[in-house]
Amino acid sequence: MSGLDEPLARLAERYRRFAADEAHGVSPHYERLAEDIAASADVLRFLIELPPPRRQPNLLLGAATLIAGRPPDIASLTEMVARRADALRAVMLARTTQTNEPARCAVLLPLLAALPQPLALIEVGASAGLCLLPDRYGYDWGSAHLPPTSADAPVFRCTVTGPAPLPTAQPRVVWRAGLDLNPLDVASDEDMAWLEALIWPEQDERRRNLRAALAVARRDPPRVVRGDLLKDLEPLMAEAPAEATLVVFHTAVLAYVTPPEVRQRFVDTVRASRAVWISNETPRVFPEIAARASQPAPHWRFLLAVDGEPKAWTGPHGQSLEWLPGRQWNEDH
Ligand SMILES: C[S@@+](CC[C@H](N)C(=O)[O-])C[C@H]1O[C@@H](n2cnc3c(N)ncnc32)[C@H](O)[C@@H]1O
Repeated sequence: MSGLDEPLARLAERYRRFAADEAHGVSPHYERLAEDIAASADVLRFLIELPPPRRQPNLLLGAATLIAGRPPDIASLTEMVARRADALRAVMLARTTQTNEPARCAVLLPLLAALPQPLALIEVGASAGLCLLPDRYGYDWGSAHLPPTSADAPVFRCTVTGPAPLPTAQPRVVWRAGLDLNPLDVASDEDMAWLEALIWPEQDERRRNLRAALAVARRDPPRVVRGDLLKDLEPLMAEAPAEATLVVFHTAVLAYVTPPEVRQRFVDTVRASRAVWISNETPRVFPEIAARASQPAPHWRFLLAVDGEPKAWTGPHGQSLEWLPGRQWNEDH
């Protein structure tokens, strides 16, 4: 589209990049829609009125899905911008792209099960706390399986390569708590509808798993405390029972903590404590840990590390675990 002024042209380019780099190969629907948005002056003008952090593709697509009750196409989105701009704007200002992906437990569980039991778990950036219930879900790692603790719980499928220490029993969790700037409430239908709206159209398995994990969580909700991982972690660690192995973990969180020096303050706090530190983040978050992995980061993977030692590349939604050659789970303990 020609004739756009500079800010609109940059925004259009952001949506085109989202289509090519993130949606391509994952969601044909969102790839097409993001390209159409990049070519729609009406939608771009709506977006440019929002504060810059609120113009994100995932935020717009999630908000429009929440309002429409189904993923929008460009015709319905253009109409929404024309007729329901206030509602769309309100959701985009009130919400963040705060997903909660319980299937990430499939890459955490081998580490948790191999630690001295029982465990006290703290998840920082826990969202609704669905990753705080790893011992209630089932797992299918191909060559190994663990059944869930209830018939309605999800069974997460995860493709494994390399010498991963796949467990034969669930970890024993005696205490658990989450910390989040903005905890979502599993009892709230609105919060849970938002989590579901963030799942992309073609990702039916993720949607099914989210609903099943939610049913498990609603029976016995995890405690998620409102707080900042930089300021409020130490008091929470002090609450954990002394006889349990304390684990502080996070997945898809530390990228939001910037700049790197501030992130390092969190690392220093955990490393100075008795906690085992499990990190599952994009390799950009801790480049110095990624640099010690024996292989370069494959495209679109997270790096799983224990106490700063790289262990595996993982699918961002817990769909794969590629254990690094020569990495024992417990070489540092
Ligand atoms: C993308 S979500 C990931 C949620 C969950 N860990 C998962 O993997 O499904 C990131 C979460 O981190 C939280 N968060 C970001 N910065 C934080 C901070 N400084 N302290 C606590 N929580 C934070 C956000 O509120 C959000 O719920």
